[in-house]
Amino acid sequence: MDQASQVREKIDIVALISEYITLKKMGRNFTAVCPFHQENTPSFVVSPERQIWHCFGCGKGGDAFTFLMEYENLEFIEALRILAKKVGVTLKTTGSSYSAGKKDAIYQLNNLAAEYYNYVLTRHNVGKAALTYLTEKRGLNEKLIKTFNIGYSPINGEDLTKFLIGKKKFTQQALLEAGLSFQKGSRAFDFFRGRIMFPLSDHRGNIVGFSGRNMSEEDFGPKYINTRDTLVYHKGSMFFGLNIAKDEIKKVGSTIVMEGEFDVISAYKEGVGNAVALKGTALTEDQALLLSRFAPKVALCFDSDDAGISAMKRSIPVLERRGLTITVITLSGKDPDEEIKSNPLAFKKAIKNEREIYDFLISKLVGENDLSTGIGKKKVTDEILPLISLIQNEVVKEHYLKKLSESIDTSQDALEKQIERKGTKEEKDVIDKTLKGDRRQMLEEYLLSLIIQAVTPAEMLTTAHDVLTQYNFSLPSVGKIFAKLVLAYQKNEKFDLKNVSIVLTQELLPTFDKCFLVPLPKFENEEKYKEEIIKVSKDLRIFYLKDRISEISAKLKKENKDEEVENLRNQISEITTQLSS
Ligand code: GTP
Ligand code: MN
Repeated sequence: MDQASQVREKIDIVALISEYITLKKMGRNFTAVCPFHQENTPSFVVSPERQIWHCFGCGKGGDAFTFLMEYENLEFIEALRILAKKVGVTLKTTGSSYSAGKKDAIYQLNNLAAEYYNYVLTRHNVGKAALTYLTEKRGLNEKLIKTFNIGYSPINGEDLTKFLIGKKKFTQQALLEAGLSFQKGSRAFDFFRGRIMFPLSDHRGNIVGFSGRNMSEEDFGPKYINTRDTLVYHKGSMFFGLNIAKDEIKKVGSTIVMEGEFDVISAYKEGVGNAVALKGTALTEDQALLLSRFAPKVALCFDSDDAGISAMKRSIPVLERRGLTITVITLSGKDPDEEIKSNPLAFKKAIKNEREIYDFLISKLVGENDLSTGIGKKKVTDEILPLISLIQNEVVKEHYLKKLSESIDTSQDALEKQIERKGTKEEKDVIDKTLKGDRRQMLEEYLLSLIIQAVTPAEMLTTAHDVLTQYNFSLPSVGKIFAKLVLAYQKNEKFDLKNVSIVLTQELLPTFDKCFLVPLPKFENEEKYKEEIIKVSKDLRIFYLKDRISEISAKLKKENKDEEVENLRNQISEITTQLSS
């Protein structure tokens, strides 16, 4: 047995996935809201019997390895390493197949680069101006610089590249892949030049990239630049400071999300250690998922300008979907970093006085609109109702509907009707979309699902097979699985669906797994179950027979030999008889 199978055998997929998302028992399977796409109702299913998972919303699926790879954005080898450790399997690390891989090379390079930048900032003449700026203008000290591993990239433009290739013996290609260098002609130059460097780490502490800030307003280029996407850095998938704040976040049960690096550093300096920075982008699905793993509450502390408010609103759906409580920390000035520095006590008070985001938004909207007019009320509700309707907890939702109803002097009933009107329209759109799928293909998948999820699959398979007779599946994968199962059952009475990978080829497994997990309607008893199989098989047979008729009719049009015409006509009438019976 290879090492992966050894690990797979020992892992319990339900326990593994439960570490990341909340699973709910549903018949023989478990379900959850899918962590890989946006949805409000669960279409993510896990099968303990087959140790697989599948999402009927986004189509992703697989085993314990693929789940971890998707969720943690890992390569197979990395997932194998983590799972092996979990179940106590020691991997043979000697073989080159288990060598570190490209991601590890990037982490190594980033570590060396961070060390280098930090050295330049703290020890070298070249970094002196930057150090003075940080300590005198931004209030940083030696300890903060060390904690956040801040550095400076020399303006010269090739020092780091030369150091990593010349001294550390990395290839130019490796530097390009890490995003530390860029190519011009045949030569490579430093990507970051003359900037204050903030290493960006994932929550495990691997440095995935950097953000670099200009030293002065007159400097060339944007104020901040970030590492471009690499194998390990993906825009919008991490937070600045999470590696440092992680433990405090768990301890206090709340993450403060701020906009910038300096906001987080100033908060940390004042003893507020659970803050992380978004770095000027909108909160993504990945980031919300990441936050949900550490604490149930997220406190937004953005700039108090329009851009900040709009960023807050856009975060609501993403955070609600992960069941997170959302609060707002309001500071008086525009820039949190400035605010914290000028009045640290006010900052701590503002943290204590955080308000649930819906309270915050309702009072803000109520203050901004003329509620003596219908238009004014409409403006408030148009803004806030879509957000309130997303609240996952019904008690909390009702609380805010009631509050809104009182604040704008409108009945709760009217508010609920307005939500419902929008809701039913959206639901209809979804159903319309799903129904547009090919009915015949849908039935084929449904039939296979009925068969393989049955208590007595062999019997159901035979039943369907008898009704279908020489049927042509329009979905080749379903057709092949069906044929292979028939063969397997005919050859070996003891064949068990749990060992299905013995008879199915690798490319058929995803279809099989999907059908194995698809939610089915409930049937009163085995008899009713069988009736459904017969009905679906008959419906499919009708499709098949109609196809045959069109084929033969097409031939008939081209045929001019009397004898052959007669033959084809007979065939058609025979099929028509079958169809009408
Ligand atoms: P500092 O003076 O460095 O504190 O910047 P700021 O207070 O002007 O930052 P601002 O509030 O404008 O932006 C907040 C965060 O957005 C910054 O910390 C950066 O992470 C990010 N950001 C700001 N400007 C840029 C930019 O030009 N490009 C990119 N990619 N990010 C930026
Ligand atoms: Mn700032």
